[in-house]
Amino acid sequence: HRALHASSSAAQRQIEHLTVVGAGLMGAGIAQVAAASGVKVTMTDVSDGALENGRNIITKSLTRIARKKSPDDPAAQRAFVDSVFANLSTTTSAPEAVSSTDLVVEAIVEHLQTKQELFRRLDDVAPKEAIFASNTSSLSITRIAETCSEARRTRFAGFHAFNPVPQMKLVEVISTEKTLPEVTTALLDLCKRMKKVPVQCADTPGFIVNRLLVPYLLEAIRMVERGEATPEDIDTAMKLGAGVPMGPLELSDFVGLDTLSHIASGWRAERVSTGEIDAKQVEEVGLLEKLVGEGKKGRKSGQGLFDYS
Ligand code: CAA
Ligand code: NAD
Repeated sequence: HRALHASSSAAQRQIEHLTVVGAGLMGAGIAQVAAASGVKVTMTDVSDGALENGRNIITKSLTRIARKKSPDDPAAQRAFVDSVFANLSTTTSAPEAVSSTDLVVEAIVEHLQTKQELFRRLDDVAPKEAIFASNTSSLSITRIAETCSEARRTRFAGFHAFNPVPQMKLVEVISTEKTLPEVTTALLDLCKRMKKVPVQCADTPGFIVNRLLVPYLLEAIRMVERGEATPEDIDTAMKLGAGVPMGPLELSDFVGLDTLSHIASGWRAERVSTGEIDAKQVEEVGLLEKLVGEGKKGRKSGQGLFDYS
């Protein structure tokens, strides 16, 4: 019953089943929006606790949307939340989840070797026509795909959504030199079904958004460290003076300080010596490393540059 999409090549089926690996901020958001768009989704993570965290993120977000849709009708609110969960299953076994899937979107920790190892394992068990995609913020898609077979590398791309996924309209779709056009087409089609606006990007550090955003966030943390202004004043200044919805420090907490630290260290290790990134822009930020070391990862852990407890 799989429909052919008019603009796809005849060989490319529409994506009906999605596996999301990683049930954190991003994985949960992608799973939620895909399930709400009628895609069958399996969300997987390493532990039951992590899956529970993902389900909680989705329940909170759906409840917010449901209240807005049907303000005075609790039964309709429940029915909406249930209808999305009807398209979503969870498991701690990623190999099982991918055994019959059209697309795998990976949203695990921002660490190259961990992502490579995951895709190496999944390559052996996923159907040969399944598309693999990473939601990485900053790593090279080409490098992440390196541990997969030559055939899979032609069906490998970037699918970079933004936090919070239910609210942010953008998805960056990244093609490598090996990505087949039909794979890009299938991902663009999925974006549209998820009511997202896709842009196409080359496989460069940070693609479009993070290439510009990450150096700015790091510099804002350095301003705090140098005592040039308070975190509150820096955020107020950028909100009222540059028209951004969140100041850079609130946004750093929102992204996750651990994720920001991983992005910067990854670029220092892999992208400075190649001349792609200027060393100055990603110099280690003491305050960032100190907070992450203390377990203060931002909003998701209750504390970061600001306190959310
Ligand atoms: N799920 C569902 N609905 C949500 C939601 C969520 N997770 N978060 C917010 N909303 C809804 C609210 O219910 C509200 O709906 P209505 O206006 O219809 O009532 C609406 O969104 C606005 O929410 P709020 O009034 O609470 O807050 P806001 O107006 O400040 O908007 C925001 C919230 C959309 C998050 C906004 O602050 C914003 O755009 N912030 C910047 C986010 C950003 O830059 N994200 C990118 C980070 S970088 C990244 O993701 C890439 C990477 O690789 C690191
Ligand atoms: P998170 O810390 O909220 O969640 C990561 C999840 O991955 C956790 O539940 C963890 O248990 C799981 N995980 C770790 N290793 C795993 C493995 N080997 N197998 C299965 N699951 C594993 O992180 P996040 O913010 O959701 O980020 C996930 C990815 O998305 C990263 O690559 C990040 O760079 C990217 N990203 C983040 C943002 C953001 O604003 N936070 C935005 C866009 C993209």
